[in-house]
Amino acid sequence: MDRNLALECVRVTESAAISCARLMGRGDRNGADAAAVDAMRNALNDLAIDGTVVIGEGERDEAPMLYIGEKVGKGGARVDIALDPLEGTNLCATGGPNALAVIAIAEAGHFLHAPDTYMKKIAVGPRAKGAIDITKSATWNLHEVAKAKACAVQDLTVIILERDRHNDLIHEVREAGARIKLISDGDVSAAIATCWERTGVDILIGTGGAPEGVLAAAALRSTGGDMQAILQFRHEEEKSRALKMGVTDLNKVFTLEELAKGDVVFAATGVTTGDMLKGVDYLGGGAITTESVVMRSKTGTVRYIRTEHHIGRKPFYCSGL
Ligand code: FBP
Repeated sequence: MDRNLALECVRVTESAAISCARLMGRGDRNGADAAAVDAMRNALNDLAIDGTVVIGEGERDEAPMLYIGEKVGKGGARVDIALDPLEGTNLCATGGPNALAVIAIAEAGHFLHAPDTYMKKIAVGPRAKGAIDITKSATWNLHEVAKAKACAVQDLTVIILERDRHNDLIHEVREAGARIKLISDGDVSAAIATCWERTGVDILIGTGGAPEGVLAAAALRSTGGDMQAILQFRHEEEKSRALKMGVTDLNKVFTLEELAKGDVVFAATGVTTGDMLKGVDYLGGGAITTESVVMRSKTGTVRYIRTEHHIGRKPFYCSGL
């Protein structure tokens, strides 16, 4: 894959972030999502790719834009695209931390094609690579991760989505003695946080969105982390959608490489300020700053990009901002 595509991806996430961050804290999650989707789609259609959305806003019949199977780009290399124009719609609507605009690109067929269902996930940073097993208990995993990081279980911080479905998990982690960071939303950023020592997060455990799982895996391929996942279906229809999309074993444990294999590019721009990136700042007079990260699994290069935008001089899809 052309390495310059990585930098082009940043333009795409910047556009989405700039568009939806205007609605930060305004309580309009759908409006913020629609603004991000619209901007991301326009920016994607400006790229020299022959892209297919494989992880998107939903299935064709339920998402008007960036639906699974939608073709994007103005022609070029054949690639598959996983995206979430606004990861953390509630976070943006309430001004909470860690809302991101996210995209990942790989060669055709290299992302898990998963329906918009749930996924049980476990993710760790590079120092605990190889020390996780999603089929074992949280307690077992905490002991193995502590061993790999040469620390005590009490030194570990586990990041968990605050949901009723995680009550037993939270109880188990507390019994094991580890610290917990409960988050209201945003498990892509949470999974990536395990790879950054400065976040103080060691391990993500729990069930979140399957699309977010594939996006997190795309990032962890570059950062040297590790992840395992199992799809969790809410009803029979989701199971048959998964089978149609090519999943053959509904209980399969997916490894990091099975979620996102080969040469993968991942880019994210901060919508609201979080552990990894600062959110969008509107400075007046059409000047805007964004912070983004872009990574390539082939080289493990991770670039942080702080951009100053001057909206009056931007392409048409940013001009209304
Ligand atoms: P959205 O941006 O689609 O709202 O997703 C936010 C999120 O918190 C994800 O990060 C997470 O994977 C998923 O929702 C969890 O789903 P649920 O809110 O249904 O528990």
